[in-house]
Amino acid sequence: MPAGELPRDVLGQRFQNPVLLAAGTAGFGRELDGVMELDRLGGIVTKAVSLLPRAGNPPPRVAEFAGGMLNSVGLANPGLERVRSDELPWLARRLARARVIVNVVGFTVDEYGAVVGELDPLPGITAFELNLSCPNTSAGGIEFGADAATVERIVASCRRRTRIPIAVKLSPALPDIAAIAVVARDAGADAITVVNTMPGLLYHDPGARGSPRLGNGNGGVSGPPLLPVGVLAAARVVERTGGMPVIGVGGVRSADDVRQYLRVGAQLVAIGTAALADPRLPERIIRVLERGDG
Ligand SMILES: Cc1cc2nc3c(=O)[nH]c(=O)nc-3n(C[C@H](O)[C@H](O)[C@H](O)COP(=O)(O)O)c2cc1C
Repeated sequence: MPAGELPRDVLGQRFQNPVLLAAGTAGFGRELDGVMELDRLGGIVTKAVSLLPRAGNPPPRVAEFAGGMLNSVGLANPGLERVRSDELPWLARRLARARVIVNVVGFTVDEYGAVVGELDPLPGITAFELNLSCPNTSAGGIEFGADAATVERIVASCRRRTRIPIAVKLSPALPDIAAIAVVARDAGADAITVVNTMPGLLYHDPGARGSPRLGNGNGGVSGPPLLPVGVLAAARVVERTGGMPVIGVGGVRSADDVRQYLRVGAQLVAIGTAALADPRLPERIIRVLERGDG
C-alpha cells in the first residue's frame, strides 16, 4: 500500500493511518505513554466506560493457550465521573494527531445513552464505540447485540444524545452479524466494529477435574484464532450494509494481517492481544505499512 493511501477520512475525521489500539487492551493510554509513541497511531480505543466504577471479575483474568488468549476482565473501569474528569482530558492534552474513540458499556439499555450523553460535551472524542457484547442484566443476561430490537433501542437512544459518530461493536458469536449491523445502521450508527472476543472456557488439569483457568469461569477468546473470523465478519458487514465504515479487529499481529481487513473494505484496524504482549508492535506495523513492504 503506498504511504499516500494510509491516511483515512472516516467518521468525519482524518486518521493519519488505519491502525488503532483495541478497546480494553490499552487502558486510557497512560499506561503506554513512554512505552510507545501514542501519537504515531491512527487512534486509540479506550477501555469500556460504564456509568459507575467497576472492580471487574475475580483473578486470574487472563489465561494463555496455544495460539491465543482467554480473558475475563469483567469490564473493570474507573466509571464515568473519573473518565470525564481525568482520563479523557489527559488523552486530549497528550494526543495531537491520534484519534480517540471511547468504548462504552451498559448493563441496561438506558445506561449506554446516559454515558454517551454525559461524555458528549467533552472535547477530543472522535467517536463512541458501543460494546454490545455484554449481558443485559434486565433480560436474563442475553447479550444486547443478540437482539435486533434491543440494538435498535440502544443505538437510537445514543443517537438522540450525541452528534459524535457512533460505532457499534459486535460479537463473532452472533448467528447473523451482518443483519444486526444493518439494524444498527438503520437506527443511526455510523460504523460497525467487528469482532469482539469469542466465548470460551478452559480448565486447569482437565484430566484430574481441575478448576476453570479464569476466576470467572468462562471468558472471551482473543488473538490469532480470531483473524479469519474477523475478516469474514468485516467482509459480510461491508457487503450487506452497502459499504458502511468498518473497524476490523481480531487476531492482528502483522502488517499483512492489517491488509486482510483492508482487503475486504475495513477502513480502520485495531490491535488488541498482540499489543498487550508487545506494545511496540503497532508502531512497527505502521512503519511497514508506510514503507509499503511486507
Ligand atoms: C484484556 C482484554 C480486555 C478487553 N476489553 C474490552 C472492552 O473493554 N471493550 C470492548 O469492546 N472490547 C474489549 N476487548 C476486546 C478487544 O477490543 C478485541 O475486540 C478482541 O480482543 C479481539 O482483538 P485481538 O485478537 O487483537 O485481541 C478486550 C480484549 C482483551 C484481550
